Amino acid sequence: MNSRHNKSYFYLVLTTILSFYACNIFASAAETTPEIFIFDDRESQGNACARVVIEKIKENQIQGKRTVLGFATGSTPIFFYNAFIRMVKEDSIDLSTTITFNLDEYVGLPPNHSESYAYFMEEHLFCELAYPHYPLGFRREHIFLPQGMAKRYADLSTDEQQALKIQFGCTHVEDSLTSEEENWILQFRADQYESLIDTLGPIDIQILGIGTNGHIGFGEPGSSFTGTTMVVNLTENTRRDNARFFDNNIDFVPYQAITMGIGTILKAKSIILMANGANKAAIIAQTLSSPISEQLPATALRQHSSVSFFLDQYSAENLSLCEQ
Ligand code: PGA
Repeated sequence: MNSRHNKSYFYLVLTTILSFYACNIFASAAETTPEIFIFDDRESQGNACARVVIEKIKENQIQGKRTVLGFATGSTPIFFYNAFIRMVKEDSIDLSTTITFNLDEYVGLPPNHSESYAYFMEEHLFCELAYPHYPLGFRREHIFLPQGMAKRYADLSTDEQQALKIQFGCTHVEDSLTSEEENWILQFRADQYESLIDTLGPIDIQILGIGTNGHIGFGEPGSSFTGTTMVVNLTENTRRDNARFFDNNIDFVPYQAITMGIGTILKAKSIILMANGANKAAIIAQTLSSPISEQLPATALRQHSSVSFFLDQYSAENLSLCEQ
């Protein structure tokens, strides 16, 4: 080897060593251990979660700060919402400055569809705690959910109609949008949602469920840990799991959703992941013990400094089998 080769060999070895150490420093600095709380049943789990959220709202109020909450849907958080409603009313908590962002929404379901997440939130929370039903309640203008319906021109806001016109350079005469226009508008909304979270956030507490494939929000396996709000294709596994809400017929389950990205979720100041039922035991154990990987999105939570797992005893039943 001549001296030029010697030199480049030296630099190659040096950069390999440096990048090896850099990777390890980042990997070890980034890895954290979530706090784990195990409850006898879903009721005590929901009560505990509601108490944490209410304490945060009170603490922020004392400091003259508003609270920003990240909400989830699905069967998991229902007991949390029940407890939250009860405790808010018992303590006359003022929610008038509290801002809420939901994780996700199906594409193609209007807000009045009984399985849309807008409908879920109305049914399980806002019908009880939004103003004027509850005078100290959430103000409508502080409630944000991704909007997944963009089939017709009439589904778009005036700003969106304008943006569509600028993008596609035409005046819309057809009522229905082409699939290209629909996709563009959904991504436009996703970007706006992310900006809104950045402007009004950070989210103080983000509530999460978990899918049996390890998804959080609708961040399916393979999602980038730095991903922002986006339109995603739902996996067959997720559509099969959710068919129980659609007359047990997978054909009725939408194929796409608009969801916060894993990166969006990780921007929250603190995160509570809730899980219950024996069907979540395997994924909870894997989330806590498998290598951190984009193939198992919930492992991203092990790179966040303030994450708690609120588990019922059934979803926690495999934990003694895994090293923590
Ligand atoms: P589930 O869904 O609460 O209905 O089990 C959780 C999820 O898919 O995130």
